[in-house]
Amino acid sequence: MAKQTGDRLRVAMVGCGFFARNHLLAWHHLPDVDLVGVCDLDPGRAQGFADLIAELGGSRPAVHTDLAAMLAELRPDLVDVVTTMESHEALVGICAEAGVATICQKPFAPDLAAVRRIVTTAEAVGIPLMIHENFRFQGPMMAVRRCLDEGRIGTPLAARLSWRCGFDVFKGQPYLAKVERLVLLDLVIHLFDLARFLFGDVARILARTQRVRQGIAGEDGAVCLLEHENGTICEVLGSYHTRIDPDPFPQTLIRIDGTLGHLEVGHDYALQVRTAAGTECSSIAPVPPDWGDPVWAMVQESVLNTQAHFVQAVQSGQEAATSARDNEKTFALVEAAYRSDASAAWVDLATV
Ligand SMILES: NC(=O)c1ccc[n+]([C@@H]2O[C@H](COP(=O)([O-])OP(=O)(O)OC[C@H]3O[C@@H](n4cnc5c(N)ncnc54)[C@H](O)[C@@H]3O)[C@@H](O)[C@H]2O)c1
Repeated sequence: MAKQTGDRLRVAMVGCGFFARNHLLAWHHLPDVDLVGVCDLDPGRAQGFADLIAELGGSRPAVHTDLAAMLAELRPDLVDVVTTMESHEALVGICAEAGVATICQKPFAPDLAAVRRIVTTAEAVGIPLMIHENFRFQGPMMAVRRCLDEGRIGTPLAARLSWRCGFDVFKGQPYLAKVERLVLLDLVIHLFDLARFLFGDVARILARTQRVRQGIAGEDGAVCLLEHENGTICEVLGSYHTRIDPDPFPQTLIRIDGTLGHLEVGHDYALQVRTAAGTECSSIAPVPPDWGDPVWAMVQESVLNTQAHFVQAVQSGQEAATSARDNEKTFALVEAAYRSDASAAWVDLATV
């Protein structure tokens, strides 16, 4: 039976690495949630997470190194998969077998065929499965969506979403240096989801990638053009090699032109809306959780919002906004972008 609002959810995490700390703190601070277990192949990492929760005054979660064993022992209501993509198919498969609601980090899987297999597995047993796609849950991005929904700039015609910075991602995530499909699959995937969130599904895409940094296996820059089904044209730019002063990390800079005016999100979350009625300036800075780190405030707020959304979806029995079925469409854009880059031609999403 679906959990109801107010029912407490017993949550277990698998993967206690670099990014999972944000998930851990968010689960600890969410109401209606008891974090009952943490699991990692490396027992020291899982132990460290359990220690941190105990230090923060929470009940110490059980420590495991094997997901199936953890599920058999703890029988949680919800599992959070925070490992890298190669392990997602096997781990979500274990969760499906146990019939437990699951949220899984992006990228969903290494390729679209694997994504489709996982969706089929989850749907066959009917578990709620959400992909932790957090950009659309960033406070500033939700504010932009509200602005569009209120019709303040009319119908969007053309847009640019840009996440270009010089932040050293390889420091916290050294494994990324060996990934052959890098910036489109790791970063631009977030912007594709954001484009779908703001302007709807995409009809076709043109993409070009660049390799600038030495000593890494994948592409580290990309420029893409998305033609949405509603006619909006959206330029999506992502890079890990751009020098901008001040560095906008971790912000997405935005410009949207509509039939009645345009809006811009600039540095420091400054929103400008310009129409015939004049210019309105406001701050759409995120509200950092009180446990947040100032540099990571927006990221941590979005993780909290993403996990809160899944809790609400599980409690209400409604499909999550970034359900597995929905995220398959975002992933298809990545696949189409690589095909477009290889062929230097537009790729129709209907063919992917
Ligand atoms: N949404 C975002 O903004 C964002 C930011 C950074 C990373 N991520 C994503 O988060 C995911 C995790 O990234 P990370 O940098 O934390 O990786 P990481 O390598 O630091 O951590 C992964 C952990 O999972 C553990 N693990 C792997 N397979 C396991 C298994 N079968 N059972 C138990 N534990 C297992 C590893 O031992 C490791 O501790 C990636 O998919 C990454 O793309 C998302």
